[in-house]
Amino acid sequence: MDCTIVTIPGDGIGPEIVREACKVLNKAGELFGHTFHYTEVLMGGCSIDAHGVPLTAEALATAKQSQAILLGAVGGNVGNSRWYDVAPDLRPEAGLLSIRKNLNLFANIRPAYLYKELVDACPLKKEIIGDGFDMVIMRELTGGLYFGERHTEEVNGLRQATDTLTYNEEEIRRIAVKAFDIAMKRKKQVISVDKANVLDSSRLWRKVVEEVAADYPEVTLSHMLVDNCAMQLVMNPGQFDVVLTENMFGDILSDEASMITGSIGMLSSASLNETKFGMYEPSHGSAPDIAGKDIANPIATILSAAMMLRYSFDLDQEAAVVEAAVQKVLTEGYRTVDIMSAGCTLVGTAQMGDLIAARMN
Ligand code: IPM
Ligand code: MG
Repeated sequence: MDCTIVTIPGDGIGPEIVREACKVLNKAGELFGHTFHYTEVLMGGCSIDAHGVPLTAEALATAKQSQAILLGAVGGNVGNSRWYDVAPDLRPEAGLLSIRKNLNLFANIRPAYLYKELVDACPLKKEIIGDGFDMVIMRELTGGLYFGERHTEEVNGLRQATDTLTYNEEEIRRIAVKAFDIAMKRKKQVISVDKANVLDSSRLWRKVVEEVAADYPEVTLSHMLVDNCAMQLVMNPGQFDVVLTENMFGDILSDEASMITGSIGMLSSASLNETKFGMYEPSHGSAPDIAGKDIANPIATILSAAMMLRYSFDLDQEAAVVEAAVQKVLTEGYRTVDIMSAGCTLVGTAQMGDLIAARMN
């Protein structure tokens, strides 16, 4: 099979981790007879440096023509990078939001799974971890506060800023359908997270999710308020299967979920539209402080590439081989510094990629 992929290494550690994910994809190609054709485009700070904008129309068009996008990370150090001296819509993150919106990537899937090898890296107590956890956060990605009308003005001599949170029922329905579809392939439990005790958008969210649930009699649906969910994630993470939530809540809860897997460097993600097209990226940021040091954990990006094989190319067996290789390398005790614990072998970014590629068979 021939697969066309646009790579967006981006900023910070992005280029290092995307390189390792390509290594793993190429190994899958070698083993199973596929060819991956890569085209690299700029997005984020590197695009600002080259073109003055975080995403050019040309880069967007190139991405649109591919079958899938592999993204590293974008952004710099907000405190001292000149990329942040400009208007918000010209900053690195604006490129990411623009590509999500323009390609209609409304469904963001973030699996949070605790490898038993990483129990020591998990900040939770052993009795809370219990038998571990295996959840998927389904985050709505193209609506809500991120894309609502916003402005800053002066009212009665005071600076005032406004952001708006809007969802229509169609936006809610399509992400709910994705969540229930995924639940059908898992433990058939959806927990929908909202703030229905305060927000109108959450009350509509709840109603529409219940309407969708009626089409999935085998799936158990429950609702949880977002503040309670933040607490439950660190009190009883084993209770979650599929967590369905809106954009901003999903952003916050997925960082929390990633931390209890041991490291934010372990959490992969897929952002999908209604077709097979998807953008695959780790859930973490560009970590400018450790860029270029060969110490970043490439596993989240490698697992994102596995999601690409599965969701965009229907290569389930190939995806499983990648995931099994990650498992093997962890079982053998290899660790990047973020997940290092006593008695394990410390390896760098490139070596971790080499080890995973070598364990694929
Ligand atoms: C994420 C990131 C982005 C988001 C930032 C970089 C704009 O935190 O993908 O979770 O908030 O969506
Ligand atoms: Mg985030």
